[in-house]
Amino acid sequence: MAFDIEMIKGVYANMAERVDKARDIVGKPLTLSEKILYNHLWDGTPTKAFVRGKDYVDFAPDRIACQDATAQMALLQFMQAGKSKVAVPTTVHCDHLIQAKDGAAIDLKHANSVSSEVFSFLESVSNKYGIGFWKPGAGIIHQVVLENYAFPGGMMIGTDSHTVNAGGLGMVAIGVGGADAVDVMAGMAWELKFPKLIGIKLTGKLSGWTAPKDVILKVAEILTVKGGTGAIVEYFGEGATSMSCTGKGTICNMGAEIGATTSTFGYDDSMERYLRATDRADVADAANKVRSYLTADPEVYANPELYFDQVIEINLSELSPLLNGPFTPDLSTPVGSDMTSKAKENDWPIVVEWGLIGSCTNSSYEDLSRASSIAQQALDKGVKMKSELGINPGSEQVRYTAERDGILQIFEKLDAKIFTNACGPCIGQWARYSDPKNAPKNSIVHSFNRNFAKRADGNPNTHAFVASPEITAAIAIAGRLDFNPMTDKLINENGEEVMLDEPTGWELPPKGFEVKENGYLAPEEDGSHVKVKVAEDSERLQLLTPFEPIGDTITGAKLLIKAYGKCTTDHISMAGPWLRFRGHLDNISNNCLIGAVNAYNQKTNFVKNQLTGDFSGVPDTARAYKAAGVKSIVVGDHNYGEGSSREHAAMEPRHLGVAAVIVKSFARIHETNLKKQGMLGLTFANEADYDLIQEDDTFNFLDLNEFAPDKQLTLELVHADGSKDVIKLNHTYNDAQIAWYKEGSALNLIKKQNAS
Ligand code: F3S
Repeated sequence: MAFDIEMIKGVYANMAERVDKARDIVGKPLTLSEKILYNHLWDGTPTKAFVRGKDYVDFAPDRIACQDATAQMALLQFMQAGKSKVAVPTTVHCDHLIQAKDGAAIDLKHANSVSSEVFSFLESVSNKYGIGFWKPGAGIIHQVVLENYAFPGGMMIGTDSHTVNAGGLGMVAIGVGGADAVDVMAGMAWELKFPKLIGIKLTGKLSGWTAPKDVILKVAEILTVKGGTGAIVEYFGEGATSMSCTGKGTICNMGAEIGATTSTFGYDDSMERYLRATDRADVADAANKVRSYLTADPEVYANPELYFDQVIEINLSELSPLLNGPFTPDLSTPVGSDMTSKAKENDWPIVVEWGLIGSCTNSSYEDLSRASSIAQQALDKGVKMKSELGINPGSEQVRYTAERDGILQIFEKLDAKIFTNACGPCIGQWARYSDPKNAPKNSIVHSFNRNFAKRADGNPNTHAFVASPEITAAIAIAGRLDFNPMTDKLINENGEEVMLDEPTGWELPPKGFEVKENGYLAPEEDGSHVKVKVAEDSERLQLLTPFEPIGDTITGAKLLIKAYGKCTTDHISMAGPWLRFRGHLDNISNNCLIGAVNAYNQKTNFVKNQLTGDFSGVPDTARAYKAAGVKSIVVGDHNYGEGSSREHAAMEPRHLGVAAVIVKSFARIHETNLKKQGMLGLTFANEADYDLIQEDDTFNFLDLNEFAPDKQLTLELVHADGSKDVIKLNHTYNDAQIAWYKEGSALNLIKKQNAS
């Protein structure tokens, strides 16, 4: 980790000057979040105060982390940038593509066989471009990042929503789409709207059955799944410092479930202990030297309402364990009898069939040790386990240490399945049923973060409830959703009444962490000779070829689809089974816009091919236009492209020959993604012009050769009867983005700049 410590020292070296300057400019004491943000400005020392929730700001993140599913297209794109190495320390983690079924040994072997081409590609491309590679079985990205890379005061982006987990170690860590990660890997700035700030004051102390998970389950209840949108959540107070570092990670992790940009905690003793326990005393020593910069100014926490946009206070001493769900993570029920009536009212199955402990949210050593203290009692008190139990350790380091300390053996004695150190059931990689769509109604309890329908096992009838690992273990033993371990008795195998005692455990392993083979492959210093492995006949991976510039003339273009109403990135590039092709642009393009509703017939994936007069699917029609050398146009409604930052939603239409997307309004990230792919993303100057677009229209851009910032473009619509309309289109391209368009894509431009 020598490389890292030099980078971290560099971040700390700038901190005093930049943060002090920011405080002067802002004119008041700073929160921790502001300190981290102002210390990571792309332009260096701050020169102006940014307006929260309004200003778009260029940042310079310290690190990037990618998981195996999203890394495929991100790295295929990065290969287009003409760089010999990534510009920012980057790691790839193979954790999503491993199915849980028979237990770690068999499942890992199976994954290494069915996804070998993806893993080989990721390993080779990582080796070539200076990217750290964590093999399948090494662990779940966010646990591995927390153990190895996260550091107080740092800024990280990652191609996974739960990148935010690293806030547990005092980072501002944010989940992004692949296109953003590629920009930063290629040496460009990363843009973010300066977030609003929510302060959460934690008073009191957790005790008994209550765990850090209950803090975030409570926050989710208060703020709901949308309440954190556009904001960083900053936790502080005696309750915050009293929790373990990995417990803080759990809380930050599920900040994604309230829509927060990210969450973070100030540097404290628990973080220092964790850094030292994970072999990073050098990072702890460096952090100690700038300690006052790694937490908010004292005035902020004394009068938080003056400095945060919203303040919430939670007394941990009064908090009780919660069960959140089903189908949404913000529906809270206190553990116990409230559940009896609620389950009855809502027809939730009261019998629990599975308890699952793991995921990036709750798979630390502390989580496993506390859950095992409950499992041990089932053995000691002769209580037979009623539900099945599955465990996914967060990393090989956690797994190895937990096995050394006898923790995993406790679960095994209860016939629990120890799955691979990977996401498994958390991302639907759980072979629970042969036919999940027709599987029976049932309840499960897990310590994961998401519990949407079908998320864990593909069964729409599975009611998934989220709880702490301790409560998950207790409910799995009792086999009932309404079991309250604080009051309810269990009957053991001798017919006696017994109760479970409060959980106990270790924040950190008393004998220290240990691992024999952590699954990490460092890249070669000079990877220029490394050949990236992609089979020519692969259906999952395809090397990209640079997009040709669309040019400054677009005439005779045909309407591909006029989308009606909501058109999210899911409508444009569906997930589900298509995710298999996310590394193969041509194959995944067969889902392009198949979810969008055709404004002329209200059907999905049924549009007119103007060249033949026939109707067919959107991708087929687009391919027909492309084959005939005809450019096509997509028209859309309001907030087109909302949803995820999935770059496929821009790459697919580009690949299929769409030259322009013209809408009433865009979701900003999608608009930027279109720009990055060298396409036109335009809005009607007059929204009502949407109604002028007819099914058989041909489009001629009249002044594209004068494409310039702040200058409208003019579009001629030639209708089937020969009549014409001329309309004005707005755009938000700046000079740099127009250069992307002219070169065919942002990556083409970077490549050109690298070559010159
Ligand atoms: Fe994996 Fe689930 Fe976390 S999919 S990264 S364990 S949210």
